[in-house]
Amino acid sequence: MEKMPYRMELDVHFPQRTIDPVIATITTDWRQGLPVLTGAMVTLRELKASDATSLCALLTTEEVSRFISPPPTTVDGFERFIAWTLRQRRAGSYACFAVTLDSTDTAIGIFQLRELESGFGTAEWGFAIGSAYWGTGVFQDGADLMIKFAFDTVGVHRLEARAAVKNGRGNGALRKVGAVQEGLLRKSFQKDGEYLDQALWTILKEDWASRTIWSAADGLIIH
Ligand SMILES: CC(C)(COP(=O)(O)OP(=O)(O)OC[C@H]1O[C@@H](n2cnc3c(N)ncnc32)[C@H](O)[C@@H]1OP(=O)(O)O)[C@@H](O)C(=O)NCCC(=O)NCCS
Repeated sequence: MEKMPYRMELDVHFPQRTIDPVIATITTDWRQGLPVLTGAMVTLRELKASDATSLCALLTTEEVSRFISPPPTTVDGFERFIAWTLRQRRAGSYACFAVTLDSTDTAIGIFQLRELESGFGTAEWGFAIGSAYWGTGVFQDGADLMIKFAFDTVGVHRLEARAAVKNGRGNGALRKVGAVQEGLLRKSFQKDGEYLDQALWTILKEDWASRTIWSAADGLIIH
């Protein structure tokens, strides 16, 4: 997600939304607290205030932040971001997981999911991981957990992602988890005073389900 929905200047409390009873039947109680998702290498769990220190150290570097909305710049700013993610999750419009290695509870990145239409039929996801963990399989493992959470738990039908065309790793990462590039959003993201083109990538629930069946039959991946 190039445009992280969190904006410090708009960080105000708002009343919680009443959960639509129809939606409530197709989802679990993730709005009350995110589940802990365990993969082969990583665990995704809810953010907590104490994650601010490691996230500030890992996500504010030039290589991580180059093609995404500016993250908070201080530990205090990350603490406020984390508090905001919890309020948004309770409101039912957004979820943000910390990425931790199975061997330690330190947050080394985040996966975010936000509602693009009421009821979460269409959603957008985004991710950032400390550069020390790039190319290690951490992303793939976390992405598999996040995609499954979006489709199976939240009830998403269409999962979108936007990546600046210049962001080679971001686009490569989306391609390798099975996203399809649908188009080009010209000059749609402003970064450091420059408007950048973004690629629009999508995964449909049915694409993911058939890929899962194919992979299971092939003995490669079982979601
Ligand atoms: C996006 C991110 C989470 C991906 O994690 P990662 O560990 O780097 O991803 P992976 O290495 O598993 O996958 C990236 C793929 O892109 C490929 N790639 C790397 N550089 C590339 C380039 N310039 N052009 C095309 N593909 C490229 C890699 O080879 C890899 O594919 P492979 O595993 O088949 O070889 C991580 O790079 C990150 O946090 N980036 C900064 C934040 C960001 O840009 N977020 C994305 C917003 S859409």
